[in-house]
Amino acid sequence: MTSALLLENIHDTAVERFKEAQVTVERRTGALAGDELHRAPEGHQILGIRSATHLGAAEIEAARHLIAIGCFCIGTSQVDLDAAARAGMPVFNAPFSNTRSVAELVIAEAILLLRRVPEKNTLAHAGKWAKGATGSFEARGKTIAIIGYGNIGSQVGVLAEAMGMRVVYYDVQARLSLGSARAARSLADAVSHADIVTLHVPATAQTRKMIDAEVLGQFRRGAILINASRGTVVDIDALRAACDANHIAGLAIDVFPEEPKTNADRFTSPLQGVPNAILTPHIGGSTEEAQENIGTEVATKLIAFLRTGDTIGAVNFPEVSPGPLTSPARLLNVHGNAPGALAALNTLLARDGVNIVAQHLQTSGQMGYVVTDLDKAPSPELIAALDAEPAFIRCRTLLNPQA
Ligand code: NAI
Repeated sequence: MTSALLLENIHDTAVERFKEAQVTVERRTGALAGDELHRAPEGHQILGIRSATHLGAAEIEAARHLIAIGCFCIGTSQVDLDAAARAGMPVFNAPFSNTRSVAELVIAEAILLLRRVPEKNTLAHAGKWAKGATGSFEARGKTIAIIGYGNIGSQVGVLAEAMGMRVVYYDVQARLSLGSARAARSLADAVSHADIVTLHVPATAQTRKMIDAEVLGQFRRGAILINASRGTVVDIDALRAACDANHIAGLAIDVFPEEPKTNADRFTSPLQGVPNAILTPHIGGSTEEAQENIGTEVATKLIAFLRTGDTIGAVNFPEVSPGPLTSPARLLNVHGNAPGALAALNTLLARDGVNIVAQHLQTSGQMGYVVTDLDKAPSPELIAALDAEPAFIRCRTLLNPQA
């Protein structure tokens, strides 16, 4: 019986999927570290984590019996992906599950900022009545510049256009423009035409402080800035100065260069006190729906890998989609990407009198992954020989109960 250890309060949808697939589940609410993390995966084939459990090379080495790792979140930087690949373990995540949640928040913030709601809300709480239309605008007809037109950026564009906004985007890659979105020639071209600039780039060396004093100077006077990407992308001190100079009329910031580690830690930012500003604690993707989607998406990928050897969506592994198991047995073989590995496998199969029904090979970097459908179940001698072959990292056999 296969079993999964799920840490960090992973959503019930994952547990339901595993139970449907006859995988037993042990759940823990918190993250694990140190000795506890070394011991906990014993007896399990699947380990599910979120962002607070760190799996370095030592933890992965100690858990070599695991078949696969599920990151029930978007990012995978908490796992040493190369070490997992070297141990023959694919790592799966849920890259699109919270895309819509972020896009909706951005659109809501754009409308609130255009109407100066944060400022008027603060005044109302303080007993002040700031009725007036000056400086308040509709979203219809305004131009939104989307910096980074990937999964989230393009969704923001679709929603913005549905509300009658003009969409311009800037991306370092050529992207398919959705609807009537226009690709800008440069970052300056995008921001200088926009009433609202929204950032959806990854944290890289190139995007570090890409919105600095110079770029902020290229914004139209009175523009709005929204950042729900990564805190490193904006020079926060330069942004504060641009707000104080009334060059930027409103901002919504969800991500910060330094964020508190837990909800109990104090949050400080140079942006505190800016009148028309929405500051949120990195909640762009934090919705019930996103958590549900993540539970389903990652569990579904892990179950497909358990049942068929499918690695589509693995972040550290060659991707193979061999389809359902129809032959009597299937051999899943992970090997170092070097000449002779496939020949060694096929020689061992032939020596045991096993015929190959179908074979799917994919390599990536140092890794090779080959899925071989067999006309009969491998003998114990063959399995021992496969396990002893130095070219192989690991072999797993799936038997077809119907064949
Ligand atoms: P994605 O990878 O689908 O899209 C990123 C886009 O940015 C790509 O099209 C890429 O070509 C482009 N890009 C990269 N470097 C660029 C540069 N220097 N200039 C212009 N474009 C550049 O990523 P996705 O899923 O859309 O996520 C975007 C950001 O949102 C990421 O930083 C991610 O970490 C963050 N995020 C934040 C959440 C929150 O809770 N606030 C939740 C989910 C994601």
